[in-house]
Amino acid sequence: METNANENTPHVVPPGGDTVDPISDDADSAYSDVASETESVTSSILAGRYENGRRYHAYQDGLYMFPDDEQEQDRLDIKYASLQLVFNDTVAFAPLKDPHQILDIGTGTGLWAIDAAEQFPSATVTATDLSPIQPNWVPPNVKFEIDDAEQTWTWKEDFFDLIHLRTMTGCIRDWDKLFAQAYQHTKPGGFIELQEMDYMGVIQPTSRNPGTSFVTWCVEQGRAGKKAGVNLRTSIEFMTSSLEKAGFVDCKALEFKLPVGTWAKEKRLRDAGLLQLSAMLEGIEGLSLRLYTYYAGWSLDELKVLLAKVRTELRDPGCHTYWPVIVVYARKPEGAPSSS
Ligand SMILES: C[S@@+](CC[C@H](N)C(=O)[O-])C[C@H]1O[C@@H](n2cnc3c(N)ncnc32)[C@H](O)[C@@H]1O
Repeated sequence: METNANENTPHVVPPGGDTVDPISDDADSAYSDVASETESVTSSILAGRYENGRRYHAYQDGLYMFPDDEQEQDRLDIKYASLQLVFNDTVAFAPLKDPHQILDIGTGTGLWAIDAAEQFPSATVTATDLSPIQPNWVPPNVKFEIDDAEQTWTWKEDFFDLIHLRTMTGCIRDWDKLFAQAYQHTKPGGFIELQEMDYMGVIQPTSRNPGTSFVTWCVEQGRAGKKAGVNLRTSIEFMTSSLEKAGFVDCKALEFKLPVGTWAKEKRLRDAGLLQLSAMLEGIEGLSLRLYTYYAGWSLDELKVLLAKVRTELRDPGCHTYWPVIVVYARKPEGAPSSS
């Protein structure tokens, strides 16, 4: 896997390299099941602001990079389900023993927090986000709070048994600051766990479609992200070294592949790929609109042309593309002083 989190260069998997087994060439019927993308006009029940027909919440420069409307919430839910298939339903990989306090940063629609609360009924799961898009009916041990994780944390020090982040790459501007605060607020012996996607999709060598527009989309999205002050790339090396710099020890890393489309041979990955394809077809516009038009100066028409090409490629069963997914977890040493 490409590991340099600072470059917007595509991954290259050499022929014969580590790939996902594709299903036979003509098995493309599942594509017809993918819901066609519809531009739904959502009714706003929450304060927000609109641009290009999408709702965003207010943030530092005016609007946040990504929308928080119902269409985006659907994308988050589908993406969550696709990752759970890839993770074989694992909620946390860190070896937790009877956790009491869990923090989920950037919880989105809160699905991870709800699953974690069910798996660890003795724990209180505090889940935060910039946007109030979490459901009302949740297990009694889940608490949602509006909080900006890039500001100074007000939680108790040495408090959490687990601090968790999922798919926050591209959202956090200063990972070193975030990890330093996470270290302070993790209980000695407790864990931090990151479950992240690297937003440079891989076209693997079995692909009959070069996925040129998809690769262009990833590269341009990455460039626009940099203009917005975030890095859409991540890697085990980047996360591990940043966690160690903050004081965490015993970093363990796992690598996964999340297919986009139903081309994988293994049913679990095929199902994950179908969900991920649906999330991309439904969600790529929301992911791109602000980054391309506001930060990178593309016209709406230019963007729509690129997105149409990307959608066509992703729907092609001959396009064998996947997202690299990494899980990294690490421990705060027992007896460690919290303040640096
Ligand atoms: C890509 S979504 C991931 C949501 C969820 N973790 C998941 O995997 O489904 C990123 C979420 O992080 C939130 N977010 C972004 N920056 C944040 C910050 N500084 N503090 C708290 N939440 C943040 C966004 O509002 C959004 O809901």
